[in-house]
Amino acid sequence: MSEPVSIAVVGSGYVGLVAAVCFAEIGHNVVCVDNDERKIDLLRNGGIPIHEDFLPELLARHRNGKLKFSTDLKAATHDAQAIFVAVGTPQSASGNADLSYVDAVASEIARSLNNYKVIVEKSTVPVYTNEWVRRTIERNGIQRSEFDVASNPEFLREGTAVIDFLHPDRIVVGADSPRAAELLRAVYYPLTSGEYYTLDTSFPGSKSKENPPPILLTSTKAAELIKHASNAFLAMKISFINAVANICEAADASVQEVALGMGLDKRIGSQFLRAGIGYGGSCFPKDVAAFRYVAEQLGVEFNLLKEVEEINAQQKIRFFQKVRSALWTFRGKRLAVLGLAFKGGTDDVRESPAFDIIKMLLHEGCTIRAYDPAATDRSKEMLPPSKSLEYVDDPYAAASDADALLILSDWSDFGQLDLDKLHYTLRYPIVIDGRNLYDPDEMASKGFTYLSVGRPSVHSTRDGVMQDSAQRKRIV
Ligand code: UGA
Repeated sequence: MSEPVSIAVVGSGYVGLVAAVCFAEIGHNVVCVDNDERKIDLLRNGGIPIHEDFLPELLARHRNGKLKFSTDLKAATHDAQAIFVAVGTPQSASGNADLSYVDAVASEIARSLNNYKVIVEKSTVPVYTNEWVRRTIERNGIQRSEFDVASNPEFLREGTAVIDFLHPDRIVVGADSPRAAELLRAVYYPLTSGEYYTLDTSFPGSKSKENPPPILLTSTKAAELIKHASNAFLAMKISFINAVANICEAADASVQEVALGMGLDKRIGSQFLRAGIGYGGSCFPKDVAAFRYVAEQLGVEFNLLKEVEEINAQQKIRFFQKVRSALWTFRGKRLAVLGLAFKGGTDDVRESPAFDIIKMLLHEGCTIRAYDPAATDRSKEMLPPSKSLEYVDDPYAAASDADALLILSDWSDFGQLDLDKLHYTLRYPIVIDGRNLYDPDEMASKGFTYLSVGRPSVHSTRDGVMQDSAQRKRIV
């Protein structure tokens, strides 16, 4: 493959670790550095700190070869031509992104700088962060000619991050100097030239030699804004379809049919139109708030984003009310919960809508047995312990003798349950599905009372199946 670039990645979280292994996968020499000694020890010894498809294979392939781990930033960046900063930018009390980790890393990089390097923001940061990083480095006595700061936002989704990295829709590089732009072009050349896809060992996906990903060169500020605007737009799409789902419930229509009809219009597109219990995760809630804050600071009113947040908060409450409408009262009811992660395919529980719903149900006096294929350990760390909340290790153990089953994350396994077994395992055959994983007609034919989001509820009765619009009216 083309000339390898020496890269340091600072931060071994979801973005940093995936970026580091994928840079190694496309031929570069990479050191991933983090000040968390336990995590680096784990990675050095073959451990894997997060649940992410293909990450174990890639780590096994490159660890101790093209990919090394370190806790020493100075040593790790010594030979690097590009330093990617992928540290956390959590939400501060004002809604703004807390950039103290970025600031601290910028100072540390400045103190370690031994020759020209490009410092690349990979974390999601507000517009102007680039300039602040530059100023911080200059304040530490480094000449402008000794470094450049660039922005290279990441568009990975947790759960599919490796394939998203290797088969991106686009690569965005914000660079204000030709020298920095050239280096970043070289970093991504194995993908943009299509070379990577010709290797026998490459992971298959949507891109190929004939159809490689485009690289978009912009100013650093535009690149920073592209990231925030993209996440805010996707969150808006989800809130939009959730609002439409609520109209569908009132009008007796199916939101899936409506979303299909909308999504076939290429200008709208079919993705991110799945109605549910609202978006969660470490990105959308934080980034919508941060983008709103950025707009405000720049004197622009962006009230649309307030509405996006409001619809998202309401969606969880509506689901809770839907559970009430199916159970009548809560105290003493035993519920099965499938899904703790903020979505299927990940062990991440940050800002998980499932948590908000579980907390409301526990507060009302329900007891809960919860199952998640990967997020149980993290849930135990994050949810306050309660004698009313038990974690089990299979879906039928959760369902055993429960008054109803709730589906809160869209793990594919949850859409493939043995419905006959589920029916006799539950005390009452009631399924309340926050992710629309089943076909209401099929659930009705199997004898379930089935409530979902933006679709007619079905009620199984002794005389057969009843479409239940009265039920819907009660929950509005
Ligand atoms: C999101 C973006 O999709 C990535 O492009 C971006 O790189 C990433 O944030 C980031 O900024 O780091 P992620 O948070 O991993 O990725 O997850 P998504 O797949 O986008 O889902 C976010 C939330 O929206 C989840 O709770 C999911 O269940 C929900 N969602 C998603 C819906 O409710 N409906 C949909 O149609 C799609």
